[in-house]
Amino acid sequence: MDYDIARPSLSEEGVRRLTWAGRRMPVLETIRERYRAERPLEGLRIAACLHVTAETANLMLALRDAGAEPALCASNPLSTQDDIAAALAADGIPVFAVRGEDSDRYYSHIHSILDMDPHITMDDGADLATILHTERTELSPIGSTEETTTGVIRLKAMADEGSLRLPVVAVNDSKTKHLFDNRYGTGQSAIDGIIRASNVLIAGLNLVVVGYGDCGRGVADRASGFGAKVIVVEVDPVRGLEAAMDGHRVLTADDAAAIGDIFITVTGNKHVLRRQHFEMMKDGAIVANAGHFDVELDLVALDDLAVAKRPIRANLDEFEMADGRRILLAAEGRLVNLGAAEGHPADVMDMSFSNQALAAEWLAKEGRNMPPAIYRLPEEIDRQVASLKLASLGGGLEELTADQVSYRSGWRHGT
Ligand SMILES: NC(=O)c1ccc[n+]([C@@H]2O[C@H](COP(=O)([O-])OP(=O)(O)OC[C@H]3O[C@@H](n4cnc5c(N)ncnc54)[C@H](O)[C@@H]3O)[C@@H](O)[C@H]2O)c1
Repeated sequence: MDYDIARPSLSEEGVRRLTWAGRRMPVLETIRERYRAERPLEGLRIAACLHVTAETANLMLALRDAGAEPALCASNPLSTQDDIAAALAADGIPVFAVRGEDSDRYYSHIHSILDMDPHITMDDGADLATILHTERTELSPIGSTEETTTGVIRLKAMADEGSLRLPVVAVNDSKTKHLFDNRYGTGQSAIDGIIRASNVLIAGLNLVVVGYGDCGRGVADRASGFGAKVIVVEVDPVRGLEAAMDGHRVLTADDAAAIGDIFITVTGNKHVLRRQHFEMMKDGAIVANAGHFDVELDLVALDDLAVAKRPIRANLDEFEMADGRRILLAAEGRLVNLGAAEGHPADVMDMSFSNQALAAEWLAKEGRNMPPAIYRLPEEIDRQVASLKLASLGGGLEELTADQVSYRSGWRHGT
């Protein structure tokens, strides 16, 4: 089977949406033009386990322009855009992804793309790498790439344990990825997801952000812009202090639980909101997660506390507690920006996926000589991607004068 998708008839709409996204990805387009001429990935099979979105479709087309044979499956059961899956399948790219697929189908799809015996794999959350290291040990790709913080953490744990058996490029760790995608991408699209799921007015509400890393800072910043009173929950004192000086209240989860109107978790950690917090929440509190896995919320406890559960709107379910309070869960606790909205805008995925494409090219060239470890893309690539993006925004950069270069490399000068 060349694909497993929901509805092939959606392909025309998918083509329209991926074309629009492509128009907002000028850096990837520049790379793609070079790829068409140089074909640096000629003959390489690339198995990608990424969110199946309009932006990912453009990455797949760029890889094919570079000479590769890409295949795609979902990196989350609820993030697939079925029209995009249909558009890619119609264009001859094997896609295995259905929005809302159950766990068995999700994992069978990862196996389907691994069946192609890939030279390079691409991951978002390290589910594919985990299968490679457990069930599909007969396969030995040249190397892999990893898109997100949680995936990098899992792969580092694999490396620390001595189990990692291939080089992995941590695309997330490139500055032009995490400083922009995690921050501005998650910041805007997580709020977009909450709004699409609930249509509440954010202004004036207490909005609790759990986790003040790259993503949490972005969410807090955008929520403030909407007029929310932002409360941050952190475990790291430096991050907590940053949140305080950025103008947010910093409280424990217990204190925040009692006063929050909207909760968004972005920690990459487990059960950061759990039974004790659900027990304290106000009637009508909205709970959402934008971290990679839904385990950030203890959904078993939420289910257990509920005497009734009912759908309210698309991507919004109500859990009624024994005392009559109602807690609303967005997008089943999965990544709210992808489950209830369209994920990050193409403008920011332009940089993330330019890094992915360049990481694949780097692995194709150097991967066979790279011992199993986690690698960052060379600094020069960050600078190139940033320069191209800035130019596309109409920005200009100063150049150091010869005198300034000499001044900065000396130490004899003083007051
Ligand atoms: N929704 C998306 O599209 C998207 C995009 C990028 C990353 N992510 C995911 O979002 C998550 C966060 O990513 P990041 O780059 O911001 O990570 P990060 O490591 O920069 O930040 C996580 C923060 O959470 C804090 N934290 C950990 N446990 C906590 C707890 N129990 N209570 C309060 N705070 C706690 C940490 O101290 C840290 O400051 C990851 O799972 C990542 O994979 C999602």
